[in-house]
Amino acid sequence: MGRIPGLSLAKTEMRLVGRSEAIRTIEADIECAARSDAKVLITGETGVGKEVVARQIHQRSLRAQGPLVNVNCAGLPDSLLESELFGHVRGSFTGAYRDKPGLLEMAPNGTVFLDEVGEMSMRMQVVLLRFLETGEIQRIGADRSHTRVNVRLITATNRDLPTQIASGAFREDLYFRLNVIRLTIPPLRERLDDIPLLVDYYLDTYSGQHRVARPEVSSAAMDVLMAHRWPGNIRELKNVIERLVLKTSGQIIRPNDLPADVFKPLIAAGAGISPGDGVAPRKPDARSAADDLAVRMLQNGESFWSAVYPVFMSRDLTRDDLRKIVQLGLESTNGNYRLLIQLFNMPDEDYKRFLSFLRKHDCHLPFQRFRVAPSRLPANAVSRSMLSNKA
Ligand SMILES: Nc1ncnc2c1ncn2[C@@H]1O[C@H](COP(=O)(O)OP(=O)(O)OP(=O)(O)O)[C@@H](O)[C@H]1O
Ligand SMILES: [Mg+2]
Repeated sequence: MGRIPGLSLAKTEMRLVGRSEAIRTIEADIECAARSDAKVLITGETGVGKEVVARQIHQRSLRAQGPLVNVNCAGLPDSLLESELFGHVRGSFTGAYRDKPGLLEMAPNGTVFLDEVGEMSMRMQVVLLRFLETGEIQRIGADRSHTRVNVRLITATNRDLPTQIASGAFREDLYFRLNVIRLTIPPLRERLDDIPLLVDYYLDTYSGQHRVARPEVSSAAMDVLMAHRWPGNIRELKNVIERLVLKTSGQIIRPNDLPADVFKPLIAAGAGISPGDGVAPRKPDARSAADDLAVRMLQNGESFWSAVYPVFMSRDLTRDDLRKIVQLGLESTNGNYRLLIQLFNMPDEDYKRFLSFLRKHDCHLPFQRFRVAPSRLPANAVSRSMLSNKA
């Protein structure tokens, strides 16, 4: 169409990769939504796949032969959004040299996907509500409605609309109109079963696309991928895998190959340590001995036994410092001591030796308080190593 960014006639078919309970529910919801013409509201964090789901609904519906028009409400100023959706008549504003139909008119018997609907201004919400009530299209500058259209509306947002309604930023009557079929996509960290499948899928995709040998992911690296919070969800995972394919073509991907924000979040964040049980808070300006040692292990690949152990035994490192280091690591590994061994560059066989060393010096921290809260991560949805973690 060559129109404005944010607006597109979507054609690409996209697969919904996954086998988790959540994905199976979403598949069933898509089938159900595709059988009717009711409005659909898709919610979920950024990058969870709202647009993929909208496309699937369209492609499986009776409207599949009609157009799917994608409009991103966040990308456009009000007047432009209104004109793009509803069209305008000649002379209605400077630069309106001729009558122009809107995208709604251009999607007869199709689907219009309004993305980021939570970003719509109050004025645009009124215009949209009027259209939803009457089905009539009134071009900007026209004194009456121009035509009626038969389009199906799918909307999406990563905002919590009830909260926005409470704060007066979103109209409740519009919400009720849009929220007929509700599809909520859970974040990736709540459907860990999908991670290995998505990793495989994108390893295949990107090694094919970039024509490089396909790397394999070691089980330790997969544990790290499963313990990561994925705030950017599948989009973030996809980008991480693409970088890995380019960086480690054909080899085995190990934890150290993973980007710092996935494997070493605390180092990436400047080794920020929060005050915790028995651990002194960190001075904001100075990097402590604990931070320096953590950097030596996490960034330079030195083993705990060569970096930390001798300094502690010669009493150049306090117990508090050692606890800080353990805390740093456990925060990175979500409370997993087995992963901590790998993070601190020790062989797996050193697990018992490491734990008894910590216990002997009263530096063994309970792992439970480093686990992601149950509301964010189901109790059974932890990485494979965590399941065998008896520490
Ligand atoms: N289940 C899935 N299987 C494979 N790829 C997926 C899946 N879900 C999402 N993706 C991919 O992840 C990326 C983000 O998906 P999408 O754009 O649909 O997310 P979104 O929820 O609309 O994000 P935003 O809120 O930022 O607009 C896309 O490249 C999409 O192809
Ligand atoms: Mg989107």
